[in-house]
Amino acid sequence: TNKVDKIPKYQKYQTLHYSANACLLPLCQLHGAAVITVEGIGSTKTRIHPVQERIAKAHGSQCGFCTPGMVMSMYALLRNKPQPTMEDITQALAGNLCRCTGYRPIVDGCRTFCQVQSSALHFSACYSASLPSHYALQEKPQLFDKDDFLPLDPTQELIFPPELIMANPQTLTFCGERMTWVSPTSLEELVQLKTSNPKAPLVMGNTNIGPDMRFKGVQHPLIISPTRVTELFEVTQTPQGVCLGAGCSLSEVRSLLEKLVPQLPEEKTELFKALIQQLGNLGSQQIRNVASLGGNIMSAYPNSDLNPILAAGNSKVSVISSGGRREVPLNQDFFVSFGKTILKPEEILVSVFIPFSRKGEFVRAFRQAPRKESSFATVTTGMRVFFSEGSRVVQDISIYYGGMGPTTVSAAKTCAAIVARPWDDETLSRAYDILLDELALPPSAPGGKVEFRRSLTLSFLFKFNLEVLQKLREMVGLNELPEKMQIKPLPREIQRSLQEFQKQIVKYFLLIQHVSKGQSNQDPVGRPIMHRSAISQATGEAVYCDDIPKTDGELFLALVTSSRAHAKITGLDVSEALQLPGVVDVITSKDIPGKKVQIIVFDVRSVIISVDVCSQVSCIGQMVCAVVADTRAHAKRGAAAVKISYEDLPDPVFTIEEAVEKSSFFEPLRMIERGNVTEAFKSVDQVYEGEMRMGGQEHFYMETQSMLVVPVGEETEFNVYVSTQWPTLTQVHRDTWTPAVTLDIPSNRVTCHVKRIGGAFGGKVTKTSILASITSVAAWKTNHAVRCVLERGEDMLITGGRHPILGKYKVGFMNDGRIVAADIQYFTNAGNTVDESVLVVEKILLHMDNTYNIPNLRGRAAACRTNLPSNTAFRGFGVPQSIMVVENMVNDVAVVLGRPPDQVREINMYKGLSVTHYKFEFSPENMLRCWEECKAKSDYSARRRAIDQFNQQSRWKKRGMSLIPIKYGIAFAESFLNQAAALVHIYKDGSVLVNHGGTEMGQGIHTKIQQVASRELHIPPSKIYISETSTNTVPNTCPSAASFGTDANGMAVKNACQTLYQRLEPLRQKDPKGSWESWVRAAFFEKISLSATGFHRGPDLYMDWDKMEGQPYAYYTFGACCCEVELDCLTGDYRVRTDIVVDIGRSLNPSVDIGQIEGAFMQGLGLYTLEELKFSPSGLLYTRGPSQYKIPAVCDMPLQFNVYLLSDSHNPHAIYSSKGIGEPVLFLGSSVFFAIKDAVAAARSESGLVGPFSLDSPATPERACLACASRFTQKIPDSKPGSFKPRALNI
Ligand SMILES: Cc1cc2nc3c(=O)[nH]c(=O)nc-3n(C[C@H](O)[C@H](O)[C@H](O)COP(=O)(O)OP(=O)(O)OC[C@H]3O[C@@H](n4cnc5c(N)ncnc54)[C@H](O)[C@@H]3O)c2cc1C
Ligand code: FES
Repeated sequence: TNKVDKIPKYQKYQTLHYSANACLLPLCQLHGAAVITVEGIGSTKTRIHPVQERIAKAHGSQCGFCTPGMVMSMYALLRNKPQPTMEDITQALAGNLCRCTGYRPIVDGCRTFCQVQSSALHFSACYSASLPSHYALQEKPQLFDKDDFLPLDPTQELIFPPELIMANPQTLTFCGERMTWVSPTSLEELVQLKTSNPKAPLVMGNTNIGPDMRFKGVQHPLIISPTRVTELFEVTQTPQGVCLGAGCSLSEVRSLLEKLVPQLPEEKTELFKALIQQLGNLGSQQIRNVASLGGNIMSAYPNSDLNPILAAGNSKVSVISSGGRREVPLNQDFFVSFGKTILKPEEILVSVFIPFSRKGEFVRAFRQAPRKESSFATVTTGMRVFFSEGSRVVQDISIYYGGMGPTTVSAAKTCAAIVARPWDDETLSRAYDILLDELALPPSAPGGKVEFRRSLTLSFLFKFNLEVLQKLREMVGLNELPEKMQIKPLPREIQRSLQEFQKQIVKYFLLIQHVSKGQSNQDPVGRPIMHRSAISQATGEAVYCDDIPKTDGELFLALVTSSRAHAKITGLDVSEALQLPGVVDVITSKDIPGKKVQIIVFDVRSVIISVDVCSQVSCIGQMVCAVVADTRAHAKRGAAAVKISYEDLPDPVFTIEEAVEKSSFFEPLRMIERGNVTEAFKSVDQVYEGEMRMGGQEHFYMETQSMLVVPVGEETEFNVYVSTQWPTLTQVHRDTWTPAVTLDIPSNRVTCHVKRIGGAFGGKVTKTSILASITSVAAWKTNHAVRCVLERGEDMLITGGRHPILGKYKVGFMNDGRIVAADIQYFTNAGNTVDESVLVVEKILLHMDNTYNIPNLRGRAAACRTNLPSNTAFRGFGVPQSIMVVENMVNDVAVVLGRPPDQVREINMYKGLSVTHYKFEFSPENMLRCWEECKAKSDYSARRRAIDQFNQQSRWKKRGMSLIPIKYGIAFAESFLNQAAALVHIYKDGSVLVNHGGTEMGQGIHTKIQQVASRELHIPPSKIYISETSTNTVPNTCPSAASFGTDANGMAVKNACQTLYQRLEPLRQKDPKGSWESWVRAAFFEKISLSATGFHRGPDLYMDWDKMEGQPYAYYTFGACCCEVELDCLTGDYRVRTDIVVDIGRSLNPSVDIGQIEGAFMQGLGLYTLEELKFSPSGLLYTRGPSQYKIPAVCDMPLQFNVYLLSDSHNPHAIYSSKGIGEPVLFLGSSVFFAIKDAVAAARSESGLVGPFSLDSPATPERACLACASRFTQKIPDSKPGSFKPRALNI
């Protein structure tokens, strides 16, 4: 996000400040505008801006990759409104994504700009006198101190540069390599241009044309930009309505209408209000700031939010061409087909007339989207009905839908069935049937979700019906009609369905631990120290891989990937690519001087394929070769010009079921059993069998895979700058596919440098090393520096993600709730290579007990080999899938027994000194404390009762609640990975440089390590610096993964610092009054080494799969989470409240740890309720960007989000009694899933459906709504499986 300032003529030369997405802003469009980026508003060299400071100090920056965008969205808001409301803030941030923080701290930092911080909102991270005694603190631990903040002084902001204030009446023309851009200044000239170039698009906001050019390769030789034609921005009011210039941005339209509404009689503003509502949900602020009204209409999107409501409201457009002006009604004839209207190509839309509504006219708009905000609607609608005064007989009605076909559609037959009839149940129930028929979709319709979309059309009409009934009752009066015609008040249980969900304003409470009494004020351990790079991240100074300046002669690498899932390559023609400007070379496997195979863990297979070996491709997105060119654009063009011919091979395998049928597995399959499951089933009261399917997840790290390989010049030496969690794997690792091995050179010639990573979540281990190998071959062959940075779509296509899973279980239990036996089978969809899939499978089995002591427990697990892109490590490494199946099983047991799930959970929990199914002894005491505390803090029992009462009184909104525990094993079962090393230098001036093997990816490891070094050396953190992670300072590193980074590296740094501190001891004794600097100086002169290595030999963990026993973890992190949801059963939309208690031992840094907890929870919420990967029937990933794949945004934050760190917890197995926290809480996001399931169960009981039911994960609005089995969803006829080709695979 950047901020743009413009002084347009149509705004009478007043400065307009607005935020905009840089990726969609054409440079030519910015002629005469001032663009301010994050670097422009403040810097550490001059003065940081209050927004930068507050987001950083409120701990709103973790990996920092999203931070500049957040800062600029907030900055743009403050330029327009220095004292914003919370609603302004959440709106301003709605279009910015963060994958690390969970948003709460970002909002919290921004909240400090609100003048009125209502007490309801102002839950600071503080101690509360009413808390139990063990929380009584000697000091008030706050996560940040507001009083420290710089004040915001709007008079000090940058002014619009006077040199840009110039009238530029001439036509502007910019000519590029393949395109010309013309910007006329008058309507006349515009008409002429369009007449002679009817195919040239008119680019206003570029939000339709831009993505097509950027992502679909659409080329336009001529672009006309009418943004300086003032006639397109004129606004006039007539007695019938308002006429808005087609060029007005959607933000301008919204604020114009918002200004008009209070000035007009209420009855005139029905359409305006419906439009305002749609505009509030359309896209994001950044999109609305640039997207034009005319552009939205002319784009004729099937799911445009404006077109249905404009059409239902009888709007008209005025168009001009060389043939003159004409007015065209926006009705069913206007939208012809996908992206097409009836206007002629040379016609220009000048203005849109929006009429006032009349007395007796009601207009409403509804929409349902995959995510509440910043998401195109699944279905959207505009509805208008007109009654003459005192009558409930419909005089006129129009209903339009978006998302129900290739373009906006009119429900004309439905309207015909309603018009001239009284608005009552009889008319409406006929209307539902006609609507269902009229807007039928074939089962494989583009866009999928067919049943859901059809049910939404009915739900929206039903909602409209309820609102109209309310209004009619007010309008017609109670007793004016004969009894039969009277309108009864809506029953209370229905009225609740009309209530809007609460606005997204988050309340929260954080409970952190206090440091011990005797701890010195200087010792930072246990204190909420800000992420050490947060300020640089907020000012844009932080350097990520792709920020490294271009070196002389540097080349860019673009990948060519397979477009077939299972085929033989029969030809590869690179000749055309090599002819293109800038293209230097095409890299194939023939160019690899070293090993051409990849051995990540168990499997052997080639990475770069070439035709000479008649190679096979085994998934769409598999890397075939790579093009290197002088620029990114040229490399991309070159890659697009490479021609590959294929011969398809029979029977690709995509789904788990297909893999199971063909026994397509990666060996070894794993099994574990304790007790005697088969025997135990014979003695139980009841047996239940069920299954659970769970989709995968895209890492969606904000920084895509990025690397730069620089040949150093002599003796085949390379510097690799790379965004990886495991520098050593990217340098060399046994037989792996890494630069050194690929190039057949020793590891001492390759140095990997990792400054920071813009998010990783497990996705930057194996995949990064493969990409770095290919880039290294290119650098070696060309002898130039080569950069490779994947685009989002490529990254999603190529690199895989979390394993989807199918879990099948048989469970035996007693009528008192005790689970006696369980037999669980797990099948993961691993994709086309094994990667780490067998290790994932093992972790799945090791966590299948979660917190339950099931005496007879059997687990079998397999990694299915399929023709999909290979999946890999992802935060939690199989655990979120494993426990999900188990918790679903426990839930089913509760439903079968008719008991609350939390009781069944409690009955089966480990108690006292316990032994897991792999014979590992542990104490569940803190696990039970988390559970009990979560129950108490969330006021579980009272709220449960309130929920039951609410559900009795509400028909279409239902509430649900769940309480979910977790026990998560920390460290690597592969013992050799439990080690770490460090190298600490003290320089003569007393400054300290710490090197260790962990990588900083937002989890705050460098901040915590700085705290450790500070404590051990007894110096303030400001004297300690961590520059990067590199293989030439600390060799043979282990991955920053398994929530073990700080445990291992913290101990290694502690060890090195203790050595150094000891060395200085004689000098301290000699000069006890001296300073750190004086002792260091003296040490130098006394020839004492001021550099030391440190090492941590971690626990000897193991797992013996033959004996089915082991000690695979050092210890457990425990937690519990309670979520409550309110679900709109008609649409599947919901709101959440969350309480989490986590045992993280003694927190090294509560702000960092809470950041990890909140961020992991939100990523879990995404996994279990929102994020859906969709593949085409031929194995192509459809969801390759943020518009198709939705990760949680600000709007998804729980409305109340409380986090409590368990007090009085100690852990002898990790540094300073802390615990690993990166991964465990992700699973607790499933609490939202189970709360939704609980609410769905309440809805189903209204339809007489009781007992267990299946709800797959993620519980998207679609799944939740359909599972409610309402009378509307039940109307949708089932499509017979096998009678059609589904649009997407059920992998
Ligand atoms: C991330 C994102 C989210 C979005 N979410 C939503 C959403 O939730 N709901 C929704 O309805 N829309 C959504 N949109 C679509 C967005 O509203 C439209 O792309 C936008 O309104 C188009 O306007 P524009 O000025 O950017 O058009 P441009 O891209 O500049 O032009 C689009 C087309 O309109 C034509 N055109 C523009 N002006 C005129 C004119 N005056 N006369 C004749 N032809 C003209 C152009 O020739 C071109 O073909 C979203 C878009 C993005 C990128
Ligand atoms: S801090 Fe937001 S994406 Fe990492």
